[in-house]
Amino acid sequence: MNWGQKYLMCPPDHFSVSYSINPWMEPGGEVDRHLAADQWLTLRSAIEDAGGSVEIIEQHPDLPDMVFTANLGIIANRILVPSRMYHRERMAEPDQAAAWATAAGLEVRRTSEGFFEGMGDALPFRAGLVAGHGQRSDQTAWSALTSATGWPITTIRLPDPRFYHIDLVFCPLDDRRALIAPLGLEAQGLKTLTSIVPEPIELTDDETLSFAANSIVVGTTIIMPACSPGLRRTLEGLGFDVVVVDVGEFEKAGGAVRCLTLPLDSNLGIALEQSA
Ligand code: ARG
Repeated sequence: MNWGQKYLMCPPDHFSVSYSINPWMEPGGEVDRHLAADQWLTLRSAIEDAGGSVEIIEQHPDLPDMVFTANLGIIANRILVPSRMYHRERMAEPDQAAAWATAAGLEVRRTSEGFFEGMGDALPFRAGLVAGHGQRSDQTAWSALTSATGWPITTIRLPDPRFYHIDLVFCPLDDRRALIAPLGLEAQGLKTLTSIVPEPIELTDDETLSFAANSIVVGTTIIMPACSPGLRRTLEGLGFDVVVVDVGEFEKAGGAVRCLTLPLDSNLGIALEQSA
């Protein structure tokens, strides 16, 4: 893949499950902060061992879900477009990302319509983004994003509240392949995805429920929260090294590996610009 080597991560110093905005969250449910910190460090090391690099944003004490940096915004071509979060509980997070991006020398470009939840709900595939709508993000926001940036976007409706971001049902592996989870899609969404991904790998329902789509690809390594023996054989057969990192404490908040990482190195619209 031509992106996925550099990520922004947020150490879980103030992580908890203190409200419920998705069906996985049980407010007041026990989160073991030490275990969460260990799991987070293991994930960071796995990224670095695979040849990737990690930059850090500090967690604001009042924003327990800020560890899920994927949702802070969309970064491509060294531009950050801060998210417009659907739930009040998370609305202050994108400003934290904007401050980080300004300090890091990125351009910050804002949109002013609709809701969208960053690269948790929009993943690069080839020159464009594949984005979810119907749960957290909406079509209005995606149109506004394209107007502001020119980035091409294909939208997919997400019908199931358990799979409220595209990164729970879709994981690009390279220019031809992606993990796709029919359990969290409608017939139309599945059709659209299989029309743009030449070689889709369909996840079983059990794999989908174990957050297998919420994985990241760093070079030829795929870092996953869980992987069934069958899926491992398929991925290894395609030449990937499969690394499983237990992020169980974060799954209590409805997020796993992809959600904990915001890619910093994607480039969108390049093919379009070249042909223009
Ligand atoms: N508790 C967070 C929320 O519901 C989890 C976010 C998971 N992020 C993701 N990219 N799927 O917003």
